[in-house]
Amino acid sequence: MEKNTNGLSGLQGARIALAYSGGLDTSVIAHWLQTEFGAEIVTVSGDLGQEKELVGIRERALALGARAAYHVDLTESFVTDYLWHALKAGALYEGEYPLATALGRPLLAKTLVEVARKEECTVVAHGCTGKGNDQIRFDASVWALAPDLRVIAPVRHWPFGSREEEILYCQKNNIPIEATKEKPYSIDENLWGTSIECGVLEDPTVAPPEDAYQRTISPEAAPNTPEQVSIEFEKGIPVGLNGRKVNGVELIRTLNRLAGKHGVGRIDMIENRLVGIKSREIYEAPGATLLHFAHSELERITLDRWTSHFKAKVSQDYADLIYNGLWFSPLREALDAFVDRTQQAMNGTVTVKLYKGGLSVLSRWSPNSLYDKALASYTAEDTFDHSAGEGFSKIYSLPLRTIARVRKPESLLSTIEAIS
Ligand code: ARG
Repeated sequence: MEKNTNGLSGLQGARIALAYSGGLDTSVIAHWLQTEFGAEIVTVSGDLGQEKELVGIRERALALGARAAYHVDLTESFVTDYLWHALKAGALYEGEYPLATALGRPLLAKTLVEVARKEECTVVAHGCTGKGNDQIRFDASVWALAPDLRVIAPVRHWPFGSREEEILYCQKNNIPIEATKEKPYSIDENLWGTSIECGVLEDPTVAPPEDAYQRTISPEAAPNTPEQVSIEFEKGIPVGLNGRKVNGVELIRTLNRLAGKHGVGRIDMIENRLVGIKSREIYEAPGATLLHFAHSELERITLDRWTSHFKAKVSQDYADLIYNGLWFSPLREALDAFVDRTQQAMNGTVTVKLYKGGLSVLSRWSPNSLYDKALASYTAEDTFDHSAGEGFSKIYSLPLRTIARVRKPESLLSTIEAIS
């Protein structure tokens, strides 16, 4: 498909803050914007707790001619200001995807804007393509924070049509690139999970080859002995593991390793992208899957029925807004206020068993538990007034009796002869 390059007009001499991952696309962007438009480049690389460390990324950016290069550790903020919000909200896109990539984008965009302000850039750039969700998340987040900035995504417009052409450009221009050989997948990774797509995964009839998975073991190869973990929550936020207080980053890292070892958190889904495409993506989110599971088990005893049922609807909307790039929106702030109110009594401990890719709950306990054994019990301890059931049931069914008198429900019945 021929690309329209109008989106890059008027960039001559501009100072541009570029979200730089150190990969092929963003390396080519850094070089190309300088040679093509005489632009000045400031690179911004964010650490979101990915296992693959960004060593030497500033040096690489400077070697590409960047006038300044920022490498910012965003891990703590990612956990506190993004992941815990999503966990408390129970945000799983289309019921499954814990939104690792989608949650990282607004924080990277915010950092990009902060650097752009400091370095007096008038343009910010990112390496997203024109057919994904990430371009929208970057664009929308930047504009929510800095409506005056111009946002460009060179891949949407530039002449390179393939990875090979970009590699050729690098060779011609002496741009060092890590691995020039064919990469079978496109992978995005952070502390909350890994997203894997492209290659053979584009065929939804094909099961993911084992090499698609980066951080989990297959359930079949997982240990034959189950393992337990206890997670302590305070106001809906996980604060302790197996009786020991741990900081959020460490807690997620530990659970990623533990759940990954047991083959927990593999997700293979066809999802609906914001741009209208159905796409196939594999996710690995061992820690996030375990935490969402434990969190929702605790909510079963701490939330009253009405709040619990209402919150399930909010969870879906919350997941949609994260997925659809609306993190920096008044709606998110309003939903956060609701969610935080529901989490006030979300204290307690859940013990989960991990075994061969599966999770099961062994125990849930809360000082604020609404579970009342005296009411639930069928033993002599029972304090529930059974006789009150009659009046409740009568009044509850009153509309049905009224309807039946009008509707003539005989037609819903078969005659005994017809049954036998
Ligand atoms: N589909 C996911 C999302 O929209 C991940 C996108 C990036 N995936 C990737 N493999 N690079 O949030």
